[in-house]
Amino acid sequence: MTTREYRERAIAEAGYNTFLLRSRDVYIDLLTDSGTNAMSDNQWAGMMLGDEAYAGSENFYHLEAQVQKYYGYKHLVPTHQGRGAEHLISQILIKPGDFVPGNMYFTTTRLHQELAGGTFVDVIIDEAHDPESLFPFKGNLDLNKLSHLIDRVGAQRVSYVTVAATVNMAGGQPISMQNLRDVRELTARHGIRVVLDATRAIENAWFIKQREPEFATSSVAEILREMCSYSDACTMSGKKDLLVNIGGFLALNDQEIFEEARNLVVVYEGLHTYGGLAGRDLEAMARGIEEAVQDDHIEARIGQVEYVGERLLSIGIPIVLPIGGHAIFLDAKRFLPQLKQLEFPAQTLAAELYVESGIRTMERGIVSAGRNTETGEHNFPKLELVRLTFPRRVYTQAHCDVVTEAVEAVYDRRQEVRGLEMVYEPKYLRFFQTRFERL
Ligand SMILES: Cc1ncc(COP(=O)(O)O)c(C=O)c1O
Repeated sequence: MTTREYRERAIAEAGYNTFLLRSRDVYIDLLTDSGTNAMSDNQWAGMMLGDEAYAGSENFYHLEAQVQKYYGYKHLVPTHQGRGAEHLISQILIKPGDFVPGNMYFTTTRLHQELAGGTFVDVIIDEAHDPESLFPFKGNLDLNKLSHLIDRVGAQRVSYVTVAATVNMAGGQPISMQNLRDVRELTARHGIRVVLDATRAIENAWFIKQREPEFATSSVAEILREMCSYSDACTMSGKKDLLVNIGGFLALNDQEIFEEARNLVVVYEGLHTYGGLAGRDLEAMARGIEEAVQDDHIEARIGQVEYVGERLLSIGIPIVLPIGGHAIFLDAKRFLPQLKQLEFPAQTLAAELYVESGIRTMERGIVSAGRNTETGEHNFPKLELVRLTFPRRVYTQAHCDVVTEAVEAVYDRRQEVRGLEMVYEPKYLRFFQTRFERL
């Protein structure tokens, strides 16, 4: 526990950016669910069986078998985390001048697409940009927007379609199985590949089970397998669904692209049977897959997020609806209506929440959206959100209650809150390191 005065100093020294705080100054850490999960006894036991051979580790073959069994792709290329896989697939499939449509951008995914010479095009349904819409599958792609893009630029200039499940930036919102089928059908007609961002696909599978009657009696594992069958490849950050602290992979079906990927991985990550990971990390991820697809686990995980969301709703806090998979997203535009978007409402709210309670959260608004690569202007996203992200198997219901009380305390004094001014901005993924001062 720290005092309010201490936290005032700490956040000022961190340039009002929660990524720049020291973790020892944080009381409850809801910055991210990435790599912050608690591994199980079974995973830790697996770490003791790390085969640290440079090539051909036993743990690689275990992970490969698990990915084939649960995700259904033929080939596996391990990477140090999700962005390593995004880098490889972007370099292989995108030609300069190409377009890459997707269901709302994700920061690292879009940057790798841009660095490869592509232009990302958001083709998510309009409901995703409306925090109050109750549409059950706000992660869906708008097939008209996608068709229109293909007609406008020609199928040859569409490298692939990125399909994220769930959609992090929209509030952890799921995509439906029906939409996945429709996207597959449309892209197949044009010979365009589909690359799934499967980072939280297991959470997405749970929502499909809850909300799409056809799947009410299917297991999460069965649903996951079918979801993946409508794509050609997936990029994966194992640091989320798969309950590990580090690790990721690219998994795919096409032999030729696989050969290219396992050649390129040697340049950027490490040999194709370890991809920047220790054998023990591969083993922890292999075991994590099996734990992550258990219906009981995923029900409890999403249930915890729902518990916090329902409590916040009951006291009138504006959050993104429906409640998403991995996080509660506060709607900073409605929370702090006195602030203009260029006074960084979500960044401000994350800083205020820290000062109030020592709870660390993350901005998902104009700072995360970055700048237009051509004009250099800020992108102005419709959503200006603060993400309260729940690591898996870490916090108790008592922690959750502290969180809701802290949010309520900031809400009660919301009229006093002033915005921020940007004083330093790095070139790439600016939200990690940008610094601010109070206005
Ligand atoms: C949806 C999504 N895709 C990709 C990534 C990138 O993964 P990593 O952080 O492991 O590089 C993340 C991580 O934050 C994510 O949430």
